[in-house]
Amino acid sequence: MKIIDGRKRSNERMTQYKKAIELLRTKDVHPKLVVVTVGDDPASKVYVGQKQKRAQQLEMSFEWVVLEGDVSQEELIAEIDKRNADPEVSGLIVQLPLPDHLDEQAIIQAIAPEKDVDGFHPYNIGQLVKNEAKLVPCTPKGIMDLLEANAIQIAGRNVVIIGRSQIVGLPLALMMTHANATVSVIHSQTANPNALIAHADIIVTAAGNPDAIDESAIPEEAVIIDVSILRGEDGKLHGDVDAEKVQDKVAAMTPVPGGVGPMTVAMLMEQTILCACHQNDIDPDTILGEI
Ligand code: GUN
Repeated sequence: MKIIDGRKRSNERMTQYKKAIELLRTKDVHPKLVVVTVGDDPASKVYVGQKQKRAQQLEMSFEWVVLEGDVSQEELIAEIDKRNADPEVSGLIVQLPLPDHLDEQAIIQAIAPEKDVDGFHPYNIGQLVKNEAKLVPCTPKGIMDLLEANAIQIAGRNVVIIGRSQIVGLPLALMMTHANATVSVIHSQTANPNALIAHADIIVTAAGNPDAIDESAIPEEAVIIDVSILRGEDGKLHGDVDAEKVQDKVAAMTPVPGGVGPMTVAMLMEQTILCACHQNDIDPDTILGEI
């Protein structure tokens, strides 16, 4: 079984982004990412800490706006409006989940679509449906990049996605379809998941639940992309799929940690650079080049 190394690929990408930022600096363009967190969700702190560390590696401006857990919808939207109007801010995200009293969809819609580096705004989702998106959700974008970097063919293949979230499963289904795969999305109401899994060439699992997939149904030579990050009773991190149960039959698999996770953060950096380019009428291809 080949290990699909997301850490390695994300580091390659980071080298490319560092050069891009240096090049932009010569044009007096300085990408800046703003992340807003509400309250003190421990997982969010870890994720935003990773984003901050990566931005620092790139010498990219990064601001972490911490709001109290009882902040009102109006106050949060006022903060977003301020950043939307600030020409120094290239990209803006509000870390999810939000406390229950806040309307997540209304908050996402308050972010200017051209600064929506998460790719969650309905405008950008609509663009993705049309295959014209400039900004897309970072985890599926990272999965597509990881497959391409590992020369794993998508066109003409059967892709099974486990999970239908707006952050991962649904946008990935669109991207895979645009890349000419035949896509099945498995969810809690799927009648016979194993029948679909048995014919999969590529399986992407983002269920956040090891019981969601039966390893015995996974066919020989499948490629497994495991998006989930779970902590076991032994304190160690693992994904949905038990690698030990499939390692003798599958062609390739992402590790957890070190698979999809680092790709998501790298793509957030890329999209911040893309925003800075678009906002300054610079063709991103001239800055990012080929990799
Ligand atoms: N929470 C978990 N993943 C994400 C993400 O990609 N973006 C935001 N904003 N919140 C998250």
